[in-house]
Amino acid sequence: MSHRIPITPSADPAILGEHLNFPTSKRQTRNRFLKAALTEKLCFYDKNQPQKSGIPTKRLINLHSKWAHGGFGVILTGNVAIDWNHPEVPGNTIIDKSLDSEERRTAFKKLAETMKSGGSLAVVQLSHAGRLTPIAINERPFSASDVQMQIPTTSLKAGYGVPIPLTQEQIKTEVIEKFVYAAKFCYESGFDGIELHGAHGYLLSQFISPSTNKRDDRYGGPAENRARLVLEIYKAIRTEIPAETGFIVGIKMNSVEFQDQGLEVDDAVVMCKEFEKHDFDFIELSGGTRGKGNQYIGFQHQKESTRKREAFFIEFANKIKPALTKTIIYLTGGFRTVPGMIDAIQEGVTDGIGLGRPITAEPDLPNKILHHGVQSALISPLEGDSLVGTKLNNSQMWQAGESSCEETNGDPCYGIMDLSTQDASNDYKKALVEYLENFAQKSNNGKIPIVDVFEYKIENGA
Ligand SMILES: Cc1cc2nc3c(=O)[nH]c(=O)nc-3n(C[C@H](O)[C@H](O)[C@H](O)COP(=O)(O)O)c2cc1C
Repeated sequence: MSHRIPITPSADPAILGEHLNFPTSKRQTRNRFLKAALTEKLCFYDKNQPQKSGIPTKRLINLHSKWAHGGFGVILTGNVAIDWNHPEVPGNTIIDKSLDSEERRTAFKKLAETMKSGGSLAVVQLSHAGRLTPIAINERPFSASDVQMQIPTTSLKAGYGVPIPLTQEQIKTEVIEKFVYAAKFCYESGFDGIELHGAHGYLLSQFISPSTNKRDDRYGGPAENRARLVLEIYKAIRTEIPAETGFIVGIKMNSVEFQDQGLEVDDAVVMCKEFEKHDFDFIELSGGTRGKGNQYIGFQHQKESTRKREAFFIEFANKIKPALTKTIIYLTGGFRTVPGMIDAIQEGVTDGIGLGRPITAEPDLPNKILHHGVQSALISPLEGDSLVGTKLNNSQMWQAGESSCEETNGDPCYGIMDLSTQDASNDYKKALVEYLENFAQKSNNGKIPIVDVFEYKIENGA
């Protein structure tokens, strides 16, 4: 039996079912829920076979069929690399001019069609990992400056290389033109829009953040300059795909980074105002970045005061949202209960609610909330466990992708393990420890399995 976070008294979810109107594309969502971007790692990857790498697979499309029937207003893909030489991890999808093919286009069209099949808007998150490209893929990645991501490692194949600062010409050819190509590819494939990944320490946030942007040209220095690259990408995309097409363009952006010299909320306000002035449809507010130990700082509560208010970045969103008048704000990170979501909307901190980890366990959580009296996410005893990290979410996504929603009588949760009990969580963690030991052994032999997903099989289908 599943266990949910207990809620008393319960709250009326009606406000969560309200439409949102994107100001530039003029598109409307059917409700306030956003499926946040989640790295899936479900594609083939081989550095020596880029043409075959990063093409949406049946498993990835099956997974999205589960979310498609989950009741979201907007579904975001996981991050899609716009440069095959700069992915966040191996195994994600790639859209890169040099790899264009009928096969890739057909697979992306199928993904778009599947994501839209239940009435959600389908939006692709476009990303360039910059200095966070794994060294095994690229020893000298591009970044804003030459600030290397330092992590404690004894293996030459792990970690990140010393980045090459992009010249102004390279900013145009290696970044802006690649984002534009990828956005156009998405438009032609039938997606409703794109989101620029400007959060969590990847290339755009390397420009945005003073900790990684040490430039003294027009892309460095004050907040307005650090936001310039994002604005140039936006303008170039809109030249190719004007607002009249109805194509949505948004950005995921950090509100704060919780680290020395990291982005502070006052600068985030300045940048978000610029994004609104330039007509972005939405800004998804998140926060945090990779810290010194390569652990992601930000997927947990950083302050006791936010714990009571549920969302991790609510105090920061509270400063950003009132500074804007038309751009739609989504807040992602920490939402687990209907009262918590409603409070954030009623306090005027956000328009929409982004959900990440809870919806790998339950791809149809919005439907359950809006139509079946559910008031909270499942309990997740392993959330925050540093050894497990996000591996359990990738195991659940892998399981969900075993079959399509149609093949499982329309049940989006079919085949996904339920870790809401301590026993089930203990069993999973034990099996994961074994997987990690094997992984380490293979790494020591120099045989690093490139795509790192723990394919944990359970009885009812996966
Ligand atoms: C397995 C996993 C993969 C993620 N991949 C991405 C990603 O590709 N792009 C992104 O912007 N955020 C990514 N995130 C962050 C989520 O979108 C979200 O911001 C974060 O999980 C906090 O929301 P939550 O508390 O609802 O999980 C990922 C998170 C997890 C757990």
